[in-house]
Amino acid sequence: MITLKKAKRVYGHLRVPSDKSLSHRAVIFGSIAKGTTKIKNFLYCEDTLATLRAFKLLGVKVKEFKGVLIIEGRNYEFSEPPDVIDAKNSGTTARLLLGVLATQNFFSVLTGDESLRRRPMDRVVKPLTQMGAKIWGRKSSSLLPLAVVGGKLKGINFFNEKSSAQVKSSLLLAGLRCEGKVIIEERFKSRDHTERLIEYFGGKVKVKKNRIELKGGQSLEGRELKIPADPSSASFFIALTFLIGGELILEDVLINPTRIGFLKKVEEMGGRITFLNKRVWGREEVADLIVKGPVSLRGVEVLPEEVPYLIDEVPVLAILMALARGRSSVRGAKELRFKESDRIRAICENLRAMGVKVEEYEDGFELEGSSYLKGTKVRTYKDHRIAMAFAVAGLVAEGETTIDHPECVSISYPNFFEDLRKITTFSSTP
Ligand code: S3P
Repeated sequence: MITLKKAKRVYGHLRVPSDKSLSHRAVIFGSIAKGTTKIKNFLYCEDTLATLRAFKLLGVKVKEFKGVLIIEGRNYEFSEPPDVIDAKNSGTTARLLLGVLATQNFFSVLTGDESLRRRPMDRVVKPLTQMGAKIWGRKSSSLLPLAVVGGKLKGINFFNEKSSAQVKSSLLLAGLRCEGKVIIEERFKSRDHTERLIEYFGGKVKVKKNRIELKGGQSLEGRELKIPADPSSASFFIALTFLIGGELILEDVLINPTRIGFLKKVEEMGGRITFLNKRVWGREEVADLIVKGPVSLRGVEVLPEEVPYLIDEVPVLAILMALARGRSSVRGAKELRFKESDRIRAICENLRAMGVKVEEYEDGFELEGSSYLKGTKVRTYKDHRIAMAFAVAGLVAEGETTIDHPECVSISYPNFFEDLRKITTFSSTP
């Protein structure tokens, strides 16, 4: 438990931890490629360490030298894991790894923690089975633990109904080794790091709007890559600066167009963010951001087609909405119910406890903005993004806010509370 009170103005600069999606993928691409991959600024957090441990169990040699992670690629020739692979809390580890395991002609078992064992895996199991992999598990192979025997795969035509980047990436990772082609059409374009990395590692993939076409039988080559800061981790500090005022510089932030929905939405609410020193690292755009506050925010709607671009930022966006003028809503976001926790429920329940009028829908919520939040006992469900979003709420609320299981921030951001202290002052217990 941690108890927080109102914070003072924000001031200074911060390099938030590296991007989680890119860190997972850097390990995966380094492992499936031929030769050596060197990763600078790798994010060490519980989720990405699960991916690293998984590939070590598949026989990948990993070293660290002067802060650079060095991976000896196996060109998709992995060895049978001597133990069960544990993806812990990480959906990205589980789903992307299933795509890789589907290409391997050996037996493996994949599991996860209590939360991950409840999350749906059929979204990747079904298409991978259609491609030729054999996968067994509870509830018609929709839940972890799953046993996999992969091997020869054939191509697939797949409609990505849920616009899930994890599903798309899983099929592309399997597709690199299939006979024929993988063709994916997405309802809305999801984050495209996997497509960019395939090209960066020397592969070929055709992308036209929401359609991706990949020829099987490709080999990739190891590369050097440098990982920018995670825009999802940056979002908590942007929100805090808008709410309590001050000035903050956020360095090296990833500004991939499929990841900046939150930045665009808060501009629509009246916030201003300046992008400085735009540059390209590998195939990804990066910038330093200047954020100033306080901002008098206005309520906004998040439409279904906007959801994939800000999916992980909805919890903190909800805090900004709760303190904006007028009504705000998020719709078409049913996927939030299948994240590390049921985030729609967690957001609505905790905002209500802070005195906000919220209506919960199956696919989102609608709320009436208010001029203040009242301190309360926040229930995080051990979900890192709920914990960090409501820590921000606790730093602007009247009175005391208690957050249960604050240690869950280490899923994506182990030093979250230390970084908060670098840019603002607040009292807390312990
Ligand atoms: C991720 C994709 C998203 C996102 C998750 C990371 C990825 O999940 O919510 O935090 O790295 O591909 P979905 O693919 O389930 O939408």
